[in-house]
Amino acid sequence: MNREDYERQYEQYRYMRENAQTDRKRLHYHLMAPSGWLNDPNGLCQLGDTCHIYFQYTPFRAGWGTKLWGHYTTRDWICFQEQEPFLFPDCPWDRDGAYSGSAFVKEGEVHFFYTGNVKLLDKPYDYVTEGREQNTIHVVSKDGCCPGEKRLVLTNEDYPKDMSKHVRDPKIYERDNRYYMVLGGREREDKGCALLFVSDDLEQWSYYDRLTTEKAFGYMWECPDLFDLDGQTLLMVCPQGVEKKGYKYQNLYQCGYFPVKFDPEKGLCRLGDFQELDYGFDIYAPQTFRDAKGRRILIGWMAVPDAKYRYDATVCKDWIHGLTMPRVLSFENGRLMQRPMEEMKRLRISRCQDRMESLPKWRTKDSCFELQIQAGSPLKELRLQLREDVYVIYRNQKLTLLMGESGQGRGERTIELEQLTELTVFSDTSSLEIFVNDGETVLTSRVFGENEMQQVQILSARGEGRAEFYELSAYKTEWICGAESLLLTGAQ
Ligand code: FRU
Repeated sequence: MNREDYERQYEQYRYMRENAQTDRKRLHYHLMAPSGWLNDPNGLCQLGDTCHIYFQYTPFRAGWGTKLWGHYTTRDWICFQEQEPFLFPDCPWDRDGAYSGSAFVKEGEVHFFYTGNVKLLDKPYDYVTEGREQNTIHVVSKDGCCPGEKRLVLTNEDYPKDMSKHVRDPKIYERDNRYYMVLGGREREDKGCALLFVSDDLEQWSYYDRLTTEKAFGYMWECPDLFDLDGQTLLMVCPQGVEKKGYKYQNLYQCGYFPVKFDPEKGLCRLGDFQELDYGFDIYAPQTFRDAKGRRILIGWMAVPDAKYRYDATVCKDWIHGLTMPRVLSFENGRLMQRPMEEMKRLRISRCQDRMESLPKWRTKDSCFELQIQAGSPLKELRLQLREDVYVIYRNQKLTLLMGESGQGRGERTIELEQLTELTVFSDTSSLEIFVNDGETVLTSRVFGENEMQQVQILSARGEGRAEFYELSAYKTEWICGAESLLLTGAQ
């Protein structure tokens, strides 16, 4: 689909956008596609005072299809502008999808690297070892809105011979004025890994090394991200094919990070132990970037591909899926911390504060709220109700998210938790992000309840502390087609 096809279909499928805007389950403060399908966040970056958020996008189908890059911008993380799609699958190198990729800002220009997906259906194919091109494409843009010419920098021929045809999702990491590109991949022997290429000019790339575990940790790693955080290098990655082990790896596909020992001078590149990023049902393909304030910000896709539970509650309204809230990362005492961005406080409308022991209750009309529980000393027990059939329970040093019918197949998630001292819940119309102990652990989930009116309450608590409840307002979105759909946002 090139730009002209898109523009033609845009008129034809305008009704999809209008239908989407009338949905009560439309998220109020999370990014979604204007209509159709959204998956991975791509190309996150800041240019001047503007942050750019691109995403995998099938605009005219609320289901899987050929991908373009959708695009939003923001200056304050509260007001978002929809921009024209940035990349179209319009050349022989990406004709079956402008797949995931990233942005690297250098001297006021943005260098985008992404995967051009090409399916070769005229020869025998299985998509794994044959029948697929995974091209790495480079595009430079001065403003993040107008892409320059597409340049092909790597093809399957450039990846090591023992790789399958699954190599994709480039991200750039800079160390000592050299650039490293990390790509997710699957070896022919079904072992997940990340490939590293190196360059001095972002144009010529040569193979550098392979990051993997000794024993296979899944058969494929998608969406790698390599970055430094508070003195530690981390490789974030999404392994597929890791088996569930007790309370670990409960999702179909994983999402987490390895601490990395990376010393280019000594040619050393080693991975430590994998840690999960989030323990909820719906998180995948996260990407990070450093903003002008020096914060490492993470945004993920609020879904897990191929998961058995349901996402289709919004399909009749012609849209599906959303991104997580932006989260600020830090690395403290050997672990990754995720905290809601300061800016989210600007969404607060009203505040109720109560002592937790008085078992407060709050009514909400659209389930858009923030609830903070601050324990005086570690809590022994807590039972919290977030929807008519959704509970958070802490007991016997275990924290459980329990969902009924509105979980649409998502039942229960439990983690071991030695102490509970703090809990912050961000609830949107059809999502929950639960931050535990000041961001030490997070659980992200979609939830599709039918009732508009909900009661949120602390059902029981052993221990004392304070509970604060805020109603939250919505992001403001400026749509390309102007006032007409601004009126329809419904979120306001
Ligand atoms: C992850 C992923 C990526 C790929 C993109 C295609 O969700 O499969 O590996 O580039 O989605 O949309």
